[in-house]
Amino acid sequence: MSTSEIQPQDIITTTNNEQIQPFTSQHITNSSSDVGNPDFRRHYVKSLKNDVIIRQLPSEGLSFQLWPAATTLFSLLDSHKIDSIISHHYKFNHRLRILELGSGTGLVGIAAAAILGADVTVTDLAHVIPNLKFNVSANAQIVGGGGGTVVTAELSWGNVEQMEVVGKEYDVIMGSDVVYHDHLYEPLINTLKYLLVGGERKRMFLMAHLKRWKKEAVFFKKAKKFFEVDVVYRDSPSDGKRVGVIVYRFVGKQCSTTTSSSTTLGGNFSKLKLENDV
Ligand SMILES: C[S@@+](CC[C@H](N)C(=O)[O-])C[C@H]1O[C@@H](n2cnc3c(N)ncnc32)[C@H](O)[C@@H]1O
Repeated sequence: MSTSEIQPQDIITTTNNEQIQPFTSQHITNSSSDVGNPDFRRHYVKSLKNDVIIRQLPSEGLSFQLWPAATTLFSLLDSHKIDSIISHHYKFNHRLRILELGSGTGLVGIAAAAILGADVTVTDLAHVIPNLKFNVSANAQIVGGGGGTVVTAELSWGNVEQMEVVGKEYDVIMGSDVVYHDHLYEPLINTLKYLLVGGERKRMFLMAHLKRWKKEAVFFKKAKKFFEVDVVYRDSPSDGKRVGVIVYRFVGKQCSTTTSSSTTLGGNFSKLKLENDV
């Protein structure tokens, strides 16, 4: 199946025989210059008046396609709403260091580096890395122009060696559509514990998530043992759907002091109502 043929109603059947729906977003358009090369998609970044170009390889599996929650984070980055979500909680007086978990095609991490001028590490499983590297290279100009950097690293959740290589020197961890198979809940939570719990440093995990199954409550229940979890943004449901993408903020329980006057990145967080809704 080529990228241009993916529709919101397309279904991927996973190894557990569950059905997941990745889909291309209403925020994202195909450029006519992409005709004839259907694996490439241009994502227009309004704030930079430029495109991020992403190669999707749908026939290779779910890690090679753009998922709905990624497009929500992309929009929050482009509109700079994410700035106020971040600075509401912590004041950072240095360039942001961002780690993305389960990056897939890399759209979110690449856009974050370009838009925020951040130093970003995009990560995923070994077999996903070549396409991730391809997309990072394809966007070197827009990322460099925004003053950001992106590096790629292999990180299988829960793999201690890989976690130590990637380290925990980040201000913000991001992830989109990373809660789907229940066997991944524990490794993801262990990775988040490594990154967020302990130490003096203040860090947060921003997770964009589209609810698909009731069982996902198990993930949130486990997560709330170690993290304060808040809803920081809700997207409206896309056509025919009951729920939209929700963005959650996770903070290690001992690091949850709010500094509401922090405005390093600008913006007015009061517009975004915080809810305990998980
Ligand atoms: C549903 S896709 C979402 C991809 C991307 N974040 C997006 O929103 O478009 C889930 C991603 O998590 C990655 N993933 C799955 N299991 C993983 C694991 N154990 N460790 C690290 N990444 C994993 C997959 O390779 C895939 O890229």
